[in-house]
This record gives sequence, C-alpha cells and structure tokens, in this order.
Amino acid sequence: MAPTTPGTRPANPRFSSGPCAKPPTFTLDKLSGAALGRSHRAAIGKEKLAAAIERTRDILGVPADYRIGIVPASDTGAVEMAMWSMLGARKATMVAWESFGAGWVTDVVKQLKIDAEVKEAGYGEIVDMASLDYATDVVFTWNGTTSGVRVPNGDAIPADREGLTICDATSAAFAQDLPWDKLDVVTFSWQKVMGGEAAHGMLILSPRAVERLESYTPAWPLPKIFRMTKGGKLNEGIFRGETINTPSMLAVEDYLVALDWAEQIGGLKALMARADANAQAIWDFCDSRDWIANLAQDPATRSNTSVCLKFTDDRIADGAGFAKAVQKRLEAEGVALDVGAYRDAPAGLRIWCGATVETSDIEALLPWIEWAFHAELEAQTESA
Ligand SMILES: Cc1ncc(COP(=O)(O)O)c(C=O)c1O
Repeated sequence: MAPTTPGTRPANPRFSSGPCAKPPTFTLDKLSGAALGRSHRAAIGKEKLAAAIERTRDILGVPADYRIGIVPASDTGAVEMAMWSMLGARKATMVAWESFGAGWVTDVVKQLKIDAEVKEAGYGEIVDMASLDYATDVVFTWNGTTSGVRVPNGDAIPADREGLTICDATSAAFAQDLPWDKLDVVTFSWQKVMGGEAAHGMLILSPRAVERLESYTPAWPLPKIFRMTKGGKLNEGIFRGETINTPSMLAVEDYLVALDWAEQIGGLKALMARADANAQAIWDFCDSRDWIANLAQDPATRSNTSVCLKFTDDRIADGAGFAKAVQKRLEAEGVALDVGAYRDAPAGLRIWCGATVETSDIEALLPWIEWAFHAELEAQTESA
C-alpha cells in the first residue's frame, strides 16, 4: 500500500548547506540601499564595510582586541590566507573528521609541505581534542559540514597554549558558542548561518595571531591577496574595512541586511536557539524511528546546523542509490532542495538547520522524509 502523502509542505523548501536559505524576512528590495556603482574606498563604501566588521563583532561577542577582516574568496580564502601566512613557524597539527578538514590537511602537507602531525577520524566520529599537542599550531574545523559532527566546546584547548589554534568555523559561527580565548584564527563565510552571499570571507585574529604575522615571514612567496603585513607590521586598514582588493558592495549590503535581521530577532542567543530548535526537531524524529539515524555517533558532537542522517533499515540493498532516490522524491515534490549528503560523505541526507531556516519548515519536512522513505522502500521491493 502506498504511504499517505503528508498534508502540508514547508513554506520554504531551501535546506541547502550553502549557500543557505536567506533570512525569513529577506526580499530583494531590501538591497536597494547598496552602494552600487560607488568606490569601496569612498566614504559610503568604507562606512558599510566598517559596519559589517563592527556589527559582526557586536553580535558574535568578538573581544575588542581581536581584528576582524573582510577578505577575498569566501571561507576558503580566509582559511588559506591564515595557513599560508602563519604556518611553518612551528610544527603543525592538522585535525580532520570530514571533507573540508581533509582539504586543509592536503594543503598543509602536500602544498606547503609543513612538518605536521595529522589526526583524523571517520565520518560520524571526532578527533579527541584533548589528545592534541597545543605547543604546535593546531588547524581544525569547528563544525564538520559534511559529517554533521562538531566540537562540543573548547574545554580541551589550553588558555596558555604556545601554538596557535586556527579554526574553520564557517558552519558554526552565529549558531554555536565559539570560545574566543581558545581561538587565535576564526574564519567563516556570509553564505552559511546568516544566509548571505559567498563572495567574501571573514578572518578574525587574536592578538597572538597578529604577533605571529608580525614576527614570522614564511619561506614561500605570498600572493597579494594573502598579504596582511607591510614592512613587518600588520596592515591595520584591512581590519577597518580597507579590503585588499575590490569587494562586492551588493554582497556587503546583503550581509548588512542579514545582520539587521539577526539584531531584530535578539542577536546571537536567538540565532543559536533557532538552530537548536531546528536540529532538535530532527533528532526527536530520528529517536522515535528505527530506520533513520544521525551520522554523528556521540550525541554531544551532533551539529545543530548541518544535520547529517543515514538510513539504517536492513531491507535497503543499495545504500547510496536509496538515499539518492529519496532525495529525488523530496525534490520532485518541491519539499526539500539540496538535501543529498555531500559527494565525499556516506550516503544519506543532510538538512541545514541554521538560523535562517524556520522550525515550522523543518517540522513540515519530516513527514515527507517518512513518506519518501516508505515510498522508495516499496518501489525497491516491487522491482526486486
Ligand atoms: C567547513 C567548511 N569549510 C570550508 C568551506 C568552503 O567554504 P566557501 O565555499 O565559502 O569558501 C565549507 C563550505 O561548505 C565548509 O562547510
């Protein structure tokens, strides 16, 4: 018997893990105040860039002595800038438990050829952060977007570490508590929890990270878009909004609009609460069913943004084919777009739960997942 079709559909079926859904109040005409056709070095451009920096500081609670810069090439640009400019002064520890972390390992070991210890865990697991040597520079991803596994807190990171901690927090910032005293470099992109655009990255530096930049020159050449110092001194302008090259003023305006929304709903606490409620709805759904489960093995490490799910029913013959077919059914019904697992991750679904997603949409989606699962299982049995 065909499973019953659910009665309601999500008002917004956009559950992509990046670019993520725009804020619920977003409309294109909100961008009409953009400084289009104006120089980013004119007063109006500079003001907007500086506002993007300072309002980020306010909402995230970034300490006053940390620098915040807008840099080229989204989160990847920010991470690369940090690694190429700072690593090599001491040994590195590269930590990875999914695809993006693994990408940073490749960069450091194969491209930069830095003396590094590599600590890896499989999809669904996490590296024990207490087992790392913090006398080395530690590079890690706070929230593994492709496995749905996150660092639960920064307790394992010593406050008096000798090395730097370089943290890719792109799918964590604005959704998870980031312990600033434990982090020397934090990066993220506007395209994730804030539902902004991907053009630019945010690079946040602790005073110790700045000290590294001013006291160490890497042995390799640095392209202009990576260079943060001039004559051995930090180029402070970058951290006031004097970007290294031309930014998109449309993307800047879009980020400011997202920040407006974040402030209106109550700032960081409200943003985190929205992600928590979204993820909790999915966790509850999975807990009461025996055919679907969180990819994250330890509940303490479950992501509240990129929730990754696997199908666990014994009757499924081809896991990858089944997950793909379920995803296609959801997409064909217009109830969930872009919810397939990442290409390098185990088969399953990935549902973005960041702050711009409405809990009512997650709740409306869940019966459709149940429907698609049963429909596909039935189709598989019939064709066997
Ligand atoms: C953990 C992580 N790092 C890096 C990236 C790359 O981000 P971007 O494409 O914004 O540079 C992503 C994108 O999804 C990510 O999830």
